[in-house]
Amino acid sequence: MHMRITVTVDGTTYTDDVEPRLLLVHYLRERLGKVGTVVGCDTSNCGACTVHLNGYSVKSCSVLAVQADGGDVMTIEGLSRDDGTLHPVQEAFRDNHALQCGFCTPGMIMQAIDLLSENPDPDDEAVRHGLEGNLCRCTGYQNIVRAVQDAAQRLRATATDTPETVAAKADTAGGVR
Ligand code: FES
Ligand code: FES
Repeated sequence: MHMRITVTVDGTTYTDDVEPRLLLVHYLRERLGKVGTVVGCDTSNCGACTVHLNGYSVKSCSVLAVQADGGDVMTIEGLSRDDGTLHPVQEAFRDNHALQCGFCTPGMIMQAIDLLSENPDPDDEAVRHGLEGNLCRCTGYQNIVRAVQDAAQRLRATATDTPETVAAKADTAGGVR
């Protein structure tokens, strides 16, 4: 038996017939080719498969594809802009060397974005707590925490930019040339 689902993934809407037991992560990877979302365990433990479902992070290996029916999924592949500009959290991970093998990174970044949308100014402990469902074998977490703090700063700066402050910054930049 199959069930028909309609899901928006990274801004594109798909309708597919799926088995009721198909996991969301397998739907994303095998049907849609969204292989940026990875599988790191079979115990719902590692968080590598984290995506956003209707704006909140979920471990996509613990959600059925049919549970996403009618929903809006964002994966790591949907974060950058069309012109290739990275999301501020992606930039912060790159700039703070917050990855080594990179396997945990897609899930870590999706979780970090959710964390920062709930708490735009977390202390280190809140970052560690917010990421405790995501495991990294390589980094020792220090640079990941640093990257999330850097990303928080970048996002707060963007949030407080108004047309006036953007114009003032442009003026200042023009003045020093
Ligand atoms: Fe490990 Fe989903 S693959 S939690
Ligand atoms: Fe290798 Fe995190 S960078 S598991």
